[in-house]
Amino acid sequence: MVRVPRIYKHAIWGSRTTFILAATGSAVGLGNIWKFPYIAGENGGGAFVLMYVFFVCLIGIPIMAAEILLGRRGRANPITAMKKIIHESGNSSIWRLISWAGVLAGFLILSYYSVIAGWALEYVSTALQGGFTDLDGGAAKIAFNNLLADKATLVKWQTVFLAITTLVIIFGVNKGIEVAVRILMPLLFILLITLMVYSAYIGDFAAGASFLFSFRFSDLSFQGAALALGHAFFTLSLGMGAIMAYGSYMPHKTSIIKTAFIVALLDTLVALVAGLAIFPIVFATPGIEPTEGPGLMFISLPVVFGAMPFGLIFGAAFFTLVTLAAWSSTISLLEPAVAYLVERFHFHRLSANLLIASMAWLLGLGSVMSFNDWADFKPFFGMTFFEFIDFITASVLLPLGGLFIAIYVGWFMSLKAVRKELSLDSSVLFKTWFNVLRYVSPVLVLAVLVVSLYGKFAG
Ligand code: TRP
Repeated sequence: MVRVPRIYKHAIWGSRTTFILAATGSAVGLGNIWKFPYIAGENGGGAFVLMYVFFVCLIGIPIMAAEILLGRRGRANPITAMKKIIHESGNSSIWRLISWAGVLAGFLILSYYSVIAGWALEYVSTALQGGFTDLDGGAAKIAFNNLLADKATLVKWQTVFLAITTLVIIFGVNKGIEVAVRILMPLLFILLITLMVYSAYIGDFAAGASFLFSFRFSDLSFQGAALALGHAFFTLSLGMGAIMAYGSYMPHKTSIIKTAFIVALLDTLVALVAGLAIFPIVFATPGIEPTEGPGLMFISLPVVFGAMPFGLIFGAAFFTLVTLAAWSSTISLLEPAVAYLVERFHFHRLSANLLIASMAWLLGLGSVMSFNDWADFKPFFGMTFFEFIDFITASVLLPLGGLFIAIYVGWFMSLKAVRKELSLDSSVLFKTWFNVLRYVSPVLVLAVLVVSLYGKFAG
């Protein structure tokens, strides 16, 4: 029997809009603004973008709907929710592995995510001190490399970022997230569009857009496909229980499939606009290449801020919003692990938070070092520590989590329960979703995973 405290009443979002905002807050983060442009840049642009959008539609949206459904059915944190649903459907408890793997993945992502979010914090302070004024590509690159070499500063901001994430979780997520995303997400969007327009004005918009959207067949590669698949999961916060946790607060009278579609659309739009703000500058600035890697956004955008009127304010505002977007994402990375310790081992919320956050901090030091002392230390199949953690999570754990969620909901969960949660979606929509989830998503995920892992380790 599953024990759930009687007095405990699970919170419900105020409305569907709140759910959309919270899920979008989790989804929109460094993945859209920092990661998407740089991995698209390293993997040929258009071909990568096409595969990514393809995976979002055929894998991301169906699996997001499945995750929301699991959360709402279970009405509890991901681990308890899975336990309840498995019990209800009479399945083997082996399926609970999905939620444990998710907790692990969230923790690993948190460890390096807070390091990168720390870079954005440093850039807020640089912007405010006028550090971007009349910056050219070469100087922007030097400034960024100096930051990477400065371990003390990296650790300082990583610590600040983890501290503010912990603070929200300690005080409970609902109110904080609701208020924050209502104001911040639209603001971030407006600022990104302004930047896009300005970068079209001072940069080479045609070259940037054609890099992102023109497709050359020869650019398709299995490695690129694996990254695009992993990124579809990463950017939509799928495969680890974050969306499941948010789905558990979703009111009953909301259509799950349509909502998943809206969140995925908003998330993709933010990524594309970020790409269109960054690449025109990359192509117009000597010394900056699309293949720049993790520094891409931190090198190209300061050049725009340095050239535009009120660049100091725009720059500081932009990196503040990036930090806040990252913040609304890390909340959803930390919460499942904390909830697990609290519910399973009766931890106090505060000590659970401090324990997980300090472990993530320690592990994050490995990522900090990957950009300086350990930059040439690549024992992990030729990857640095940071690249390895990123690979294990985005390219392995999240797709695997998603694969098993699709298989579980498509083939093993009680159909009656599934149908009931989706009763608001029309039967055509339901059938389409169900068939894609059963036959298309798992096969695609598995194929890409097998081929890419084989290519990586045997090829
Ligand atoms: N989606 C976020 C981003 O793109 C990162 C993130 C938050 C995440 N929660 C997650 C990724 C859960 C995977 C799983 O920045």
